Amino acid sequence: MKILHVSAECYPIAKVGGLADVVGALPKYQNNLGHPTSVIMPFYDNKFTQTNTFSKIYEATLILGESQFVFNILKTKDKILDFDVFFVDIPELLFKDYVYSADDTNRFLAFQIAVLDWILILKEQPEIIHCHDHHTGLIPFMLQESFKYQSLNKIPVITTIHNAQYQGWFGYDKLHLIPEFDSSKTGLLDWNNTINPLAAAIKCAWRVTTVSPSYMEELKENANGLEALLSHETNKCVGILNGIDTQVWNPETDHYIIKNYNIKTVRSGRQGNKKWLCKQFNLDETKPLFAFIGRLVGEKGVDVFSEVFKNSLEKEDISILVLGSGQAETENELNNLKASFKGKYNAYIGYDERLSHIIYAGADFLLMPSRVEPCGLNQMYALRYGTIPIVRSIGGLKDTVIDINNDGFGLCHNNVNAEEVEYAIQRATLLYNDKTKFKSIRKKIMTIDHSWDVSAKEYINLYQSIY
Ligand code: ADP
Ligand code: GLC
Repeated sequence: MKILHVSAECYPIAKVGGLADVVGALPKYQNNLGHPTSVIMPFYDNKFTQTNTFSKIYEATLILGESQFVFNILKTKDKILDFDVFFVDIPELLFKDYVYSADDTNRFLAFQIAVLDWILILKEQPEIIHCHDHHTGLIPFMLQESFKYQSLNKIPVITTIHNAQYQGWFGYDKLHLIPEFDSSKTGLLDWNNTINPLAAAIKCAWRVTTVSPSYMEELKENANGLEALLSHETNKCVGILNGIDTQVWNPETDHYIIKNYNIKTVRSGRQGNKKWLCKQFNLDETKPLFAFIGRLVGEKGVDVFSEVFKNSLEKEDISILVLGSGQAETENELNNLKASFKGKYNAYIGYDERLSHIIYAGADFLLMPSRVEPCGLNQMYALRYGTIPIVRSIGGLKDTVIDINNDGFGLCHNNVNAEEVEYAIQRATLLYNDKTKFKSIRKKIMTIDHSWDVSAKEYINLYQSIY
């Protein structure tokens, strides 16, 4: 089966969060299973495009309402990844030094039109089109309804929801930008009187997946307004747990970390990374180190941090390190705490891929008090590197972390509030001081297999069921 993934992000080309990690790994595993798999994504002005050379394989003009834009389909001259990546270059719209901005409607609509215009002229068309999130949410609708793409409407299309909080809404004033279709079908685009690309994808895709079984269930109760739609479409929806790329995320070979290690050398290896972190961030390496890595947004529960950190740093003998960026208010709060807890707390506000790897390799515990967590990859990276996760039991966190009190290996709490997170930190500190148990859990978690092997097959089975 010839598979084409359509996505706004793909690691290591352009990454904002876990979507990039998934689209940078799943195709590799699908190729290994014998299915030629490739990715098509926008061409951004970033380090990757600045440091690689590209060849043009197609050039045309796309129509977006009254406007026309020249676009190119590019490929890197050298083979860089283990699968083919095609880039949609629309110089006037896409070529920016960021992935997302406040108003992306025209950019991503033009991207989707360019993708379908290109597929139209291909001799060997994909046999499965796999779309990711709302940025590609109008593709299932256009394949089904736009007159221009009628010859493609037998190609099975699936949509994966990585996060239903973001739906790509836009107003009816832009309806005319979508390639012409029978106006009696406009309802397929609509949810609550706005055009909703994610809702349109749920209605028109042949199958809808999300990134963990628990999140699929939760979406029927809490999907930022799409609950009824997801309940209605339940028969074509399935939750498939994300995996991790165990080649990229391997403490034995990871070129980002300070000291490589495996299960036999975990103590000294992790100590080397912790030592570096503590030196770099002025923390005490003899104390348990709690870390957070992620987007500083409400979904991640980061609003409780200020209170939790103040209380826990006063009561417990611990260190805390944050790596993240996001809402300005939270960034300021987390920066301001530094002055009150010198030597015990630090934060790097920004995005740093290398530092994230060193933190997974050197922190003792990883905090994830998420309000919403469709899957979460951080906890799986933490497990593989021997960092014990402290999670709110929701979505993918519920599916991957079992509490130590239930014969498991992590620390779980049910609600997002300062009290429960502080209690989890307290329990973690006790665990840290029980050296035998702490070390045995650390080894145990490193053996848990979350590689893509299993889930990549589940996607193939799903494609085969509609192919
Ligand atoms: P989400 O996609 O909701 O942000 P995930 O847990 O699925 O959450 O994936 C987050 C990914 O982004 C992980 O690879 C994590 O290490 C990375 N990440 C998040 N914030 C940062 C940051 N500030 N610096 C480096 N990596 C980050
Ligand atoms: C989203 C979710 C995250 C998930 C990631 C990859 O960004 O917020 O939980 O792991 O997508 O599927």
